[in-house]
Amino acid sequence: MESNENYVMPRIGEKAPSFTAVTTQGNINFPDDYAGKWTILFSHPADFTPVCTSEFMTFASMDKEFHDLNCQLVGLSVDGLYSHIAWLRTIKEKIEYKGMKNVEVNFPLIEDITMEVAKKYGMIQPGESNTKAVRAVFFIDAMGIIRTIIYYPLSLGRNFDELKRVLIGLQTADNFGVALPADWRPGDDVIVPTAGSCGVAKSRMEGQEEGVTCYDWFFCTKKLDKAKVEAALGKKKA
Ligand code: BEZ
Repeated sequence: MESNENYVMPRIGEKAPSFTAVTTQGNINFPDDYAGKWTILFSHPADFTPVCTSEFMTFASMDKEFHDLNCQLVGLSVDGLYSHIAWLRTIKEKIEYKGMKNVEVNFPLIEDITMEVAKKYGMIQPGESNTKAVRAVFFIDAMGIIRTIIYYPLSLGRNFDELKRVLIGLQTADNFGVALPADWRPGDDVIVPTAGSCGVAKSRMEGQEEGVTCYDWFFCTKKLDKAKVEAALGKKKA
């Protein structure tokens, strides 16, 4: 198990470590304040830096799309509250980038000067920087369980298409009890669970199971309509 100055790195399938924090939208008690909602908790290295600015403008522009998936964005950096406020105001008042302008960041941005939260979440990775958080992304479900973790270095901005695809994929896998193949997107075929008995596997392989295509006994897919996926998204994990 990797540790970071007595902090254990959180892992997929574990309860999201809890903390209270001061943010640009008031104090939060994480993850309890978000019970029943998915959250994307993400860190950025520093306010008033270019890659982070491009990312924040993109996160803020997609905020409604994440909300529509019952997901709340929560950002963090090791800067202080007044720096956060000044940076977000600069973004709104001065920055026009790739057609985005007058962008207001309405999701909370945590101040973490002590790095306590960043360390709890393994966001300080000394090989990259001792003083700044890397670009971490934690997908946390409506029960407060960590479902996916992605880390990016300081020099590379995140791919937001992929962040949204991950959220949709996690919710789809939960709602339909399926797994999702490489590069899956809504409307693509999904992977059905491996057959529990030889009889089922045989009938699947022989094409007797309606709508199921098998490439071998361990690899079968079926259609899942995009409309069905879209209707199920944003629902609580059972
Ligand atoms: C940036 O967001 O531009 C950045 C932040 C820290 C180190 C390098 C780049």
